[in-house]
Amino acid sequence: MQKNDIKNLNFRSLFPIFGQKINDWPLIFLDNASTSQMPQQVLDAIVQYYSSYKSNVGRGIYNFAEQATAKYEQARDKVAQFINAQAKEIIFTSGATDSINLVAQSWATHALQQGDEIIISAVEHHSNFLPWQQLALQKKLVLKIVPVTADGVIDIKEFQKVLSVKTKLVSLFHTSNLTGATHDVITLTEMAHRVGAKVLIDACQSVMHQKIDVSSINADFLVFSGHKLFGPTGVGVLYVAQSVMKSMELQKFGGGMVFSVAEYSSAFKPAPHCFEAGTPNIAGVIGLGAAVDFVQNYIDFSQTEKHETALVKMLCDGLREFQDVTVLSVIPKNFAQNISIVTFYSTKHHAHDIAAYLDQYGIAVRAGHHCVQMFHQKMGVNASVRVSFAPYNTVKEVEFLLKMLKTFLN
Ligand code: ALA
Repeated sequence: MQKNDIKNLNFRSLFPIFGQKINDWPLIFLDNASTSQMPQQVLDAIVQYYSSYKSNVGRGIYNFAEQATAKYEQARDKVAQFINAQAKEIIFTSGATDSINLVAQSWATHALQQGDEIIISAVEHHSNFLPWQQLALQKKLVLKIVPVTADGVIDIKEFQKVLSVKTKLVSLFHTSNLTGATHDVITLTEMAHRVGAKVLIDACQSVMHQKIDVSSINADFLVFSGHKLFGPTGVGVLYVAQSVMKSMELQKFGGGMVFSVAEYSSAFKPAPHCFEAGTPNIAGVIGLGAAVDFVQNYIDFSQTEKHETALVKMLCDGLREFQDVTVLSVIPKNFAQNISIVTFYSTKHHAHDIAAYLDQYGIAVRAGHHCVQMFHQKMGVNASVRVSFAPYNTVKEVEFLLKMLKTFLN
């Protein structure tokens, strides 16, 4: 099969989950911002680890253990190469939430002092809001929440206004899990660096849809979850720029992260291994390595971006026919920018009722506040329906979704 041949149905056949029916209907999975499905080659890599060389990493000297360690470290190399980082800048975590909490506990908790400021946008996922809210409460920091414009991105004038020498961290989404809007992270990072602040980019919703290049973004930290990149759950990535890694302090202690232990002092391994205490999610990391291989073998982002944006356009055009429906997503003018998420609500029907109705026909969408509760409150909307696309979604699926919405909403 050709790379990026996304219209070819063979691409879908690489994902075993699509072979099943839900209530006798073919599965239409439109909750990809929540998690993406896994191709057979990722499943095979995980099963192979469990069935033929399951052992711990960085410890054993027998054949299996060396194989497991090699595959685990190869996955680190693959992830590093994928985002244009160095392997020593990649820490494996249990997911993006864990990655952000690790930055809060290993870096921010000692690097920031009372009165220092953290800037986030008003549309951050709870995972990029709560760690900073709680740290601010503990350490008497100031958390500045900057509003977003009608384009769904941080208001650059407001951002410029709040940036100052007191700003020690700017933590922003790359692509919003609610609106699908994408930040110009290169410009924002540059602005934050000018006042000496560090920058964290949450790339959870962009990593499956566009090329991530940490050297051009130039952020200090970048996080994403493996399961949003065709990989398994329970594994995530924390990229820490080499220059910042030195100022990360150890937070978890245990096996695997230490060279020598004595009664009153111990010598720890260098980063990134000193941040991976205990037995890591070995199968998850190996699965993530296979997911990166999958993306590199089958996905051409320039093709998938166009494909997903076309699906978004088609859905938005269809939704316009429903009088009681409002689209919350920020649709780029003339669809000039890539987008893969459409969030909407109806004034007549609760989002949960819409999702439950669609589920009867095998259509999986997310309904609720999508872990961005405050923004919903601000908009006066208690819940919305979110349709989020992946490269394996098709025009036929959108046609069927619109048809079913018509039967329910009209
Ligand atoms: N962060 C995931 C979402 O937005 C779970 O749905």
